[in-house]
Amino acid sequence: MQLLGNRKILLGITGGIAAYKAAELVRLLTRAGAEVRVVMTPAAQEFVQPLTYQALSGHRVYTDLFDAEAESAMDHIELARWCDLLVVAPASADFLGKMSAGYADNLLLTLCLASKQPVAVAPAMNQQMFANPATRDNLRQLIGRGVLVWGPDEGEQACGDVGPGRMLEPAQLLNNILSQFGPGKLDGVRLLLTAGPTREPIDPVRYISNRSSGKMGYAIAEAAMKQGARVTLVSGPVFLAPPFGVELVAVESAQQMYEAVMGEVADCEIFIACAAVSDYRVAETAQHKIKKTGEVLTLQLVPNPDILAEVSALQARPFCVGFAAETENLEQYARGKLQQKNLDMIAANRVGSAGSGFEADFNQLEVYWIDGGQSIEHAGKSEVAKQLIDLIAERYTRARS
Ligand code: CTP
Repeated sequence: MQLLGNRKILLGITGGIAAYKAAELVRLLTRAGAEVRVVMTPAAQEFVQPLTYQALSGHRVYTDLFDAEAESAMDHIELARWCDLLVVAPASADFLGKMSAGYADNLLLTLCLASKQPVAVAPAMNQQMFANPATRDNLRQLIGRGVLVWGPDEGEQACGDVGPGRMLEPAQLLNNILSQFGPGKLDGVRLLLTAGPTREPIDPVRYISNRSSGKMGYAIAEAAMKQGARVTLVSGPVFLAPPFGVELVAVESAQQMYEAVMGEVADCEIFIACAAVSDYRVAETAQHKIKKTGEVLTLQLVPNPDILAEVSALQARPFCVGFAAETENLEQYARGKLQQKNLDMIAANRVGSAGSGFEADFNQLEVYWIDGGQSIEHAGKSEVAKQLIDLIAERYTRARS
């Protein structure tokens, strides 16, 4: 049974009687082919010896934030990056409280803060503690931040109480973990993406640019990666770290972006043009810094190549997705661009309204294709990216069949 072949699971164990059940979870996960590393909080070690999990996982158990030996093998940031999924089971009321407050005073809490991967918690506590509004608030906060909360179960508790608070059974937790790794919708698909603004030089110290932050493009790159795509990101200058595993080609001007895209496009099956490319560049960039004279200064601008239109005009063209930023007549203008540039899909957003579009953390899209369309509701850019990638995967798969 290799249902989780090559999947890397970081299992966090906190202090609670259900810690003994986590041993069964480690056994099930390793039997399913996962590579499991266990991290224990100090309280967890009061219930079960680390050696138990070491024997079952085949790896040393991480317990200490300041363990020089462990840190030299794989430091805590590497460990946070190493995993595909971080599962805290059991997750005590105390741990959930600290996690929701952003504490980092033990190794497991630090990993929860440092990990960009999905985090799931399986609460386990006395039913009265679970019912307490403080615990409820903590869980609500965590859910709001995208943490997966699995359980708890109802039933008889170790303390003799009956009610909700039992940790989900290991077999159920295994099922939940498996469902996180359904087959990727873009497994092995090569996807090329542009993101961010471009900078068009005026002289050695000045340039023309725009307000694009690159956040939407970077979120799309990450969402595509999560669906198994091999992503190349051609990015203008932004203040963002590229998502782990994405191949980054950093450029500045529209001309450089054009050349980078044309160099990569032959290998790609999906092209998404998310960059806010300057439509014009300065006709002649000054060799030296332009000095003020008190006279009117005129800059002559010439058009830049339309990268998206050039890609979609290729003979062996990839599935092409464009973006349209509009302040009015959204559908009409977006559908116009869909046709003019011969695209498979276009994602349109309204700019100029507060709370979405350029620079914001949220977005809202209207996605159109020749004989249909779909709205993606106002949400965080990573959620919007996830839904957009789902839609692109669906349309791309349909176009290929
Ligand atoms: N695009 C591109 N290369 C350019 C200009 C735009 O690849 N030189 C892409 C963008 O990444 C985006 C789409 O084309 O996917 C935007 O189309 P465009 O017609 O340029 O939009 P606007 O600049 O908003 O057009 P207009 O000013 O006409 O509304």
